[in-house]
Amino acid sequence: MIARGAMLGPDQPVILHMLDIEAAAEALNGVKMELIDAAFPLLKDIVATTDVVEACMDVDIAIMVGGFGRKEGMERKDLVSRNVSIYKAQASALEKHAAQDCKVLVIANPANTNALILKEFAPSIPEKNITCLTRLDHNRALAQISERLDVHVSDVKNVIIWGNHSSTQYPDVNHATVTTSYGEKSVRELVADDHWLDMEFITTVQQRGAAIINARKQSSALSAASAACDHMRDWVLGTPKGTWVSMGVYSDGSYGIQPGLIYSFPVTCANGKWSIVQGLKIDKFSRVKMDATATELVEEKSLAYSCLD
Ligand SMILES: NC(=O)c1ccc[n+]([C@@H]2O[C@H](COP(=O)([O-])OP(=O)(O)OC[C@H]3O[C@@H](n4cnc5c(N)ncnc54)[C@H](O)[C@@H]3O)[C@@H](O)[C@H]2O)c1
Repeated sequence: MIARGAMLGPDQPVILHMLDIEAAAEALNGVKMELIDAAFPLLKDIVATTDVVEACMDVDIAIMVGGFGRKEGMERKDLVSRNVSIYKAQASALEKHAAQDCKVLVIANPANTNALILKEFAPSIPEKNITCLTRLDHNRALAQISERLDVHVSDVKNVIIWGNHSSTQYPDVNHATVTTSYGEKSVRELVADDHWLDMEFITTVQQRGAAIINARKQSSALSAASAACDHMRDWVLGTPKGTWVSMGVYSDGSYGIQPGLIYSFPVTCANGKWSIVQGLKIDKFSRVKMDATATELVEEKSLAYSCLD
């Protein structure tokens, strides 16, 4: 997708650096062969390596997919412990060798906490440059509304994913709208079923990752890759006017969320920078859910630190 221009646009040549562990070196080389064979006009060079320094050297964008993936029935605690040490090591390689203004997107789970570890162990990378992926959850929420209302997904906008990329995330439609032939209408008004929006919709989005793992016995792949392209494209090239997206970013205390956590907020992007959408009205129901997912992130943070000892 990156080599076809889905991430940075059809006019932006790219050099792909791909990192994997020694045990996967042969498979990595196979991916490199496929990339060569695809003859992508935008792909100017490929570096396929098991050396983290070579992989991080001068990169402008780092997409952190590597890690120990969640398997069916796996406890989040095991996942945290296996992944934080990887992110601590990769943080220092990025800090030392990546381009100065490198933008980082962490995808591997636990995504928010891996990003937090990366931020804490790469203190010279600006906090604003370290993000994690909740765009997949955002896109899932848009898709659920689109299916329910039988409208095209591109006509739905401004859902919000608050918090952790986990089952405590809060998919919020209170500010979401649909473009119709008679103007922009609120999702709540059009769905006209608060019970569905406050129960089934939320659970479906929260559990969608697990549902995909149940069905495929592997994490989402195509939709995750596409969401990663959406995340980086909007961050680098900007969000459309009047539209916000969800990104896991460090909290500056907005909406009462503990500063320093990597928490998913509604953001707009311009000139390569994101800003949290301010001033949205938060009702009691939302407040409880936003706080619950923040509490989980605080707990994950201390779990991550205990695994590093
Ligand atoms: N945030 C999201 O929305 C989202 C969506 C889908 C998947 N994920 C997560 O993304 C990650 C990747 O998922 P996947 O299905 O591609 O998993 P996968 O197991 O197929 O791939 C992980 C890759 O990472 C490599 N790897 C392991 N340790 C590494 C290290 N130390 N350095 C570099 N590479 C290393 C593995 O060899 C493997 O090639 C998982 O953690 C998954 O849970 C997140």
